Amino acid sequence: MESPGSSTLTHSFVRSLTGGDTKEVRRWNSVPAAKATSSANPQIIFSGIQPTGVPHLGNYLGALREWVRLQDTAPKDTRMFFSIVDLHALTVPQEARQLKTWRREGFATLLAVGLDPSRATVFHQSAVHAHTELFWILSTVASMGYLSRMTQWKSKLDLPEDISLEDSAARAKLRLGLFSYPVLQAADILVHRATHVPVGEDQRQHLEFSRYTANSFNHLYGNIFPAPEAIISPAKRVMSLKEPTLKMSKSHTDKRSRILLTDSSEDIHKKVKSALTDSDASVSYDPVHRPGVSNLLEILSHFDGRSCEDLAAEYKSSSLQSLKGHLGSQISLHLQPIRERYLSLIADKTNYLDVVAEEGARTASANADVTMRRVRETLGL
Ligand code: AMP
Ligand code: TRP
Repeated sequence: MESPGSSTLTHSFVRSLTGGDTKEVRRWNSVPAAKATSSANPQIIFSGIQPTGVPHLGNYLGALREWVRLQDTAPKDTRMFFSIVDLHALTVPQEARQLKTWRREGFATLLAVGLDPSRATVFHQSAVHAHTELFWILSTVASMGYLSRMTQWKSKLDLPEDISLEDSAARAKLRLGLFSYPVLQAADILVHRATHVPVGEDQRQHLEFSRYTANSFNHLYGNIFPAPEAIISPAKRVMSLKEPTLKMSKSHTDKRSRILLTDSSEDIHKKVKSALTDSDASVSYDPVHRPGVSNLLEILSHFDGRSCEDLAAEYKSSSLQSLKGHLGSQISLHLQPIRERYLSLIADKTNYLDVVAEEGARTASANADVTMRRVRETLGL
């Protein structure tokens, strides 16, 4: 069965988004371009980020920077929705005041990185009720077997990857909301009829699940949902500065393991200087044997545009210290305007952020309601 929203984004446009990753481009090209003319069937982009603290450099390079790039380069008739997915944050226990602060900070960050509310719709997930309605409907077709094989609930509960639902430790710890997290994510995407979803590599499994769920629904009830395509950022996985074999994350206990978008230049320099490398003071690019220094080269290459190999060659004759110094300056330079915009948005005494969020929720609700009318009609509701 052919999906209703097929890809019409151009080859060069996609290549620019995937950093020339030919595998990604091939995957993109394999989506049938039939039926979808850009005016009759415009592309819809959706992505989300959890309000669980100020976003870090991994979020930025893996997702937020790509969202802004899409906003600035996609064809005019492409519609875009970016959401603070606050209901997803509830899948692990939250403290109400903290969550409230993080929601606001997350929202301010999306504007500070350059999302323009007159071009892209920015909103809080919980303000658009259709997300949870579709979540329920999709849960009637979502496969328990598939969900039980997925990795996120296991990693969030510190359980081994090969654990099964039969295991008593898993059953004791697991809550339904965490288990069905991917169904809500599928609902986020499908309720907006999204055709493309820009995310970091760690979300690939969730995107596959969303495609599978869209296809299952379409197969049972008719062709309602496009099968969404992932747009994986060239910065697939930015690694922790303290444990460079793990991805940079909001939950790592050591705060020096991540650079926040709101860090001062001084903090950034300190964190980069204290980044864990190995006993070899030289610079070379070897992600398997030298993950620490390779991560620094990768981060630099995302700002600098040159390959890690070229950068390693340049720094071969100088020192790791000078690489760290240069990287600290590049990151600070790039993040400084974001930090300044963020600080002025967060200090703003008018209700600008609330007004943008309300307007975003209205636009997103109107778009989601179009889908829900079709879904309800299809189901006989
Ligand atoms: P989260 O903070 O888990 O809501 O993630 C928001 C977005 O950032 C998702 O698209 C993730 O794939 C992306 N992301 C999170 N951590 C990293 C990382 N270390 N490297 C690259 N992308 C990341
Ligand atoms: N699971 C995503 C993450 O942790 C956040 C998310 C929720 C999302 N819904 C989404 C991302 C829909 C893309 C599309 O990063």
